Amino acid sequence: MVSKLGLLTGGGDCPGLNAVLWAVVRAADQQGIRIVGIEDGYDGLCHAKPSVRALRPGDVRQILGQGGTVLGSTNRGNPFRYAVQGADGTTCYEDRSQTVIDNVARLGLDGLIAIGGDGTLNISQELASRGLKVVGVPKTIDNDLSATDSTFGFSTAVGTAMEALDRLKTTGESHDRVMILEVMGRYAGWIALHAGLSGGAHFVLVPELPYRLDVVLQRIRRHWAQGRRHFTLIVVAEGAHEAGSAPLHVAPGRPGSVPRVGGAGIALASALDGAFAEANTWSGAAPEVRTTVLGHLQRGGSPCAFDRVLSVRFGAEAVALAAHGRWNRMVCLRGTDIASVPIEETVRRPHRVDPDGQLVRHTRAVGICLGDA
Ligand code: F6P
Repeated sequence: MVSKLGLLTGGGDCPGLNAVLWAVVRAADQQGIRIVGIEDGYDGLCHAKPSVRALRPGDVRQILGQGGTVLGSTNRGNPFRYAVQGADGTTCYEDRSQTVIDNVARLGLDGLIAIGGDGTLNISQELASRGLKVVGVPKTIDNDLSATDSTFGFSTAVGTAMEALDRLKTTGESHDRVMILEVMGRYAGWIALHAGLSGGAHFVLVPELPYRLDVVLQRIRRHWAQGRRHFTLIVVAEGAHEAGSAPLHVAPGRPGSVPRVGGAGIALASALDGAFAEANTWSGAAPEVRTTVLGHLQRGGSPCAFDRVLSVRFGAEAVALAAHGRWNRMVCLRGTDIASVPIEETVRRPHRVDPDGQLVRHTRAVGICLGDA
């Protein structure tokens, strides 16, 4: 009999996290299950005194449509590799997984509902193999988790990127410019592809299909040769890169967190600028290039209707799984139904754009260039 559950949000935030919290607290309340909110993901359980607070329906009344997470989140705080600063200022790593397990027992929790991306789900899987009872809820704007047809947050992020493209189009057209939009997507180009398709981009460059600069240049020239009042709209995922080179890293990341990827838009802009500056390649004036990095605007703000519904259904199903003792599973979207799979199934392989898949075929079919051929 389940009577008390811990609830946490880990990894980068994303629109819809609060909607899941709203749903979990309400669904649990219907079944007489108490919810303990854990602050800042697993980090909140990594200390002798855990950072927790009770969550009742009254505490979540206003948060369904709010961006972010009222529980806080962090990309650091992996209990198996917890970064601590030594007296000499150097960083060393401790295994705090037992602290987490002890805290769960001390708080009287029957199990945890962990909402997160690949990092949080990996940690959950490892803790599950040591006896912790967990239900996972997949979140990420990148949509790069396998075993679910979609993650919440993705649709909202695509909408933000699409709106940015609509705006870049009018200013780009007015000035005959090449407009580059860099969107998130470290290893997966889902946001870039969906934004490019919905925003009518001329190019979409994704990490899964390394691009060739000569191909991009040739297509831009062909495009511009068609006459005045032309402009070029390019969407580039932050992890996109030229064939033969690796994704750019902007910073190594704080101890215990992953390296930050980015700079793909600026790199492409300077390569194009360099090529445009070469003599004899343009009949008239070479186009100007401008770059916009959309960054965390994609993560912030209110979730769209699709993401709210998905989040609420994920939350309700997560409580149902826990209440029935179906531990170490992750809720997922299968077609129009919410189902569940063992957490290990999703952490085993990431969900990347298939270069030979239908989405890529449709993108090419409507004349959008992926920069590879
Ligand atoms: O995982 C989602 C994501 O948005 C990535 O696309 C991006 O590289 C990363 O988070 C940035 O996270 P942060 O700035 O929080 O470290």
